[in-house]
Amino acid sequence: MYYNWEKNIKEEELNNIVKLIRNGEIIIFPTETVYGIGANALNKKAVSKIFKAKGRPQDNPLIVHISEKADIKKIVKNVNKIEQILIDNFMPGPFTLILDKKENIPDIVSAGLSTIGVRMPDNEIAQKIIKASGVPIVAPSANISGKPSGTNIQDIKKELENKVSAIIDGGQTNIGIESTVVKVIDDVPTILRPGKITPEEIKKVIGKVSISEKILAKVSEEEKIESPGMKYKHYAPTTPCRLICSELEKKQIELINEQIEKNNKDVVVLAFEEHIEKINIEKEKIITIGSNKNLETVMHTVFTALRQADKYCAKIVLIEGTKKEDLGLAIMNRLLRACQYDCIEG
Ligand code: TXA
Ligand code: MG
Repeated sequence: MYYNWEKNIKEEELNNIVKLIRNGEIIIFPTETVYGIGANALNKKAVSKIFKAKGRPQDNPLIVHISEKADIKKIVKNVNKIEQILIDNFMPGPFTLILDKKENIPDIVSAGLSTIGVRMPDNEIAQKIIKASGVPIVAPSANISGKPSGTNIQDIKKELENKVSAIIDGGQTNIGIESTVVKVIDDVPTILRPGKITPEEIKKVIGKVSISEKILAKVSEEEKIESPGMKYKHYAPTTPCRLICSELEKKQIELINEQIEKNNKDVVVLAFEEHIEKINIEKEKIITIGSNKNLETVMHTVFTALRQADKYCAKIVLIEGTKKEDLGLAIMNRLLRACQYDCIEG
């Protein structure tokens, strides 16, 4: 079933959704970051349907979504002082905190770990569904594993519509990339996945922050890592992608033009809007990804742009990089993975 709640939430339809969740079915719904595939976190069978629908590796744990802070203590053992400050400052919002799970959360959710990611989305539709269902809801990003996350229904309908019981359309998501995932390790908030909540913002409230070195590095299957999601292929179009980076704007454009020639113009370019005129290829072969001067616009468009890139059936997708700090850290984390670390730096 397809439900359009872009303008308003329809109470009658909400009842249907609640029934589906309680019956152990899975649904697609919007959050402020990306769309999620949701299921009752307390129902093992329902959770296993998500892994199957996404083709998700069994050892990659899911985030548990709640609608109010009082729900946190129902699913996790204890919250220390630092964790509490993070909750007070960043929930609801695009923020996931890794905490010790209680026994009521099945092992399939945490992929056998003793911890779970907890997130309270700041999106009216998501909050209503969680609240009305009366159970915590697991929700990975709505996409087939390895593909770019879904930020609108049009992008993901084809690949997922036959695998879920309902699709709730809430329009384009506000933020466009997934939540910042943080674990407090030895009293230091450690970023395992960068997002809209930046290291600087966390440092401001706690006084310290650490960024996992794996965020911008290639991780091998055998490595011991804090977050299983780090080791898998992510966000990748079918067409091979190459990231082109330089701290100097002029040099970056030069490198792109060089790559266009080297690949006999059989390319599609993901470029910042302010660079389009300087890129030596027909406009039809350029997809704009917002402005390098306003990275929120890049977050909005990047996953859709990665998906559109495949439509060109080009030899390669050339993608402009940005600075690896602030919001740029989250964008570069996604782009490096989309390119499977094929990156030219000059
Ligand atoms: O914004 C978001 O977080 C979206 C929306 C739908 O809420 N959800 C999302 O879920 O991005 P997913 O499953 O696509 O990504 C969850 C990430 C994975 O990289 C996973 O490995 C990590 O969080 N994660 C989950 N539980 C963890 C845990 N207990 N310890 C470490 N990492 C964990
Ligand atoms: Mg995901």
